[in-house]
Amino acid sequence: MSATIAVLSQKGGTGKTTMVRSLADVFGRLGVDVLAVDADPQGNLSDYFDTDPNAHPTLGEVLMGQVRAADAVHGRVIPANLQLSEAELSLSGKIGREVTLRNALMDLKRNRELILIDCPPTLGLLTVNALVASTHAILSTEAQYFSLQGMEQAVQVLDLAHDSLNPQLELLGVCLNIANMRTRHARQTLEALRERFGDKLFRTVIRQSIAYAESAERAVPILEYRPDRGSDYLSLASEILRRLGKQELLEPLDTLSAEVVPAGASGAYSRA
Ligand SMILES: Nc1ncnc2c1ncn2[C@@H]1O[C@H](COP(=O)(O)OP(=O)(O)OP(=O)(O)O)[C@@H](O)[C@H]1O
Ligand SMILES: [Mg+2]
Repeated sequence: MSATIAVLSQKGGTGKTTMVRSLADVFGRLGVDVLAVDADPQGNLSDYFDTDPNAHPTLGEVLMGQVRAADAVHGRVIPANLQLSEAELSLSGKIGREVTLRNALMDLKRNRELILIDCPPTLGLLTVNALVASTHAILSTEAQYFSLQGMEQAVQVLDLAHDSLNPQLELLGVCLNIANMRTRHARQTLEALRERFGDKLFRTVIRQSIAYAESAERAVPILEYRPDRGSDYLSLASEILRRLGKQELLEPLDTLSAEVVPAGASGAYSRA
């Protein structure tokens, strides 16, 4: 499929890392050759993949030009740790600072079908690098404390990356995440997003569930830990495949859903 998707948001804690981990799992189960890239010095994605905390080298070394990206792949992830903050700092004074990740991933892109990049909570240099290295971006947003103004900041950074350095970049979609659709606030947020983003808003809403924190704690993907909850990500994956024009994977996805989700247990919320 050869796509690189950055998952970003205007603020912290909107479920980006969980989205990257869950989608990497779903697409991996479909036989897609997926690589996840942890572009956040917090290293949450690396932990969720159960990567050895001492794994070496990491994305920090890659961005500092010390190793090739291929040498930093551990299983299905290029991990990160606090050293990535140092790399970001040292990058900030350099020419070509925004294109470093793109250049580093160039070789890998040739033989990977899908790369998913988990962005940090800020719209700084690491997020810009992720956007410049990507063909697509997904904006994740939470209903709680929702602000359209905040969303606009993320859109501005996306537009900037598109206009100045990466004309290929496309907003794949906007996803309402960690949502409790029983609350009026969540429903109003969804409506505001629909008005602003129209068809770019994914119909799938990722429902709020404590199962995600538990699955992260156990370093086990949601489909394995609570398949009924993971069904939200199966539904999101299906929309992503359609938007990427990968219809041939929809049937295997249906088969996977039938296998892993107990009949009638999903109850996924989707805008009619
Ligand atoms: N659908 C969900 N329902 C409830 N909790 C969730 C859901 N998705 C993620 N979480 C939890 O919310 C918290 C934040 O999620 P996550 O780490 O994925 O967000 P993030 O946007 O990557 O955060 P950061 O900006 O700090 O990197 C975590 O504790 C996670 O387990
Ligand atoms: Mg995160």
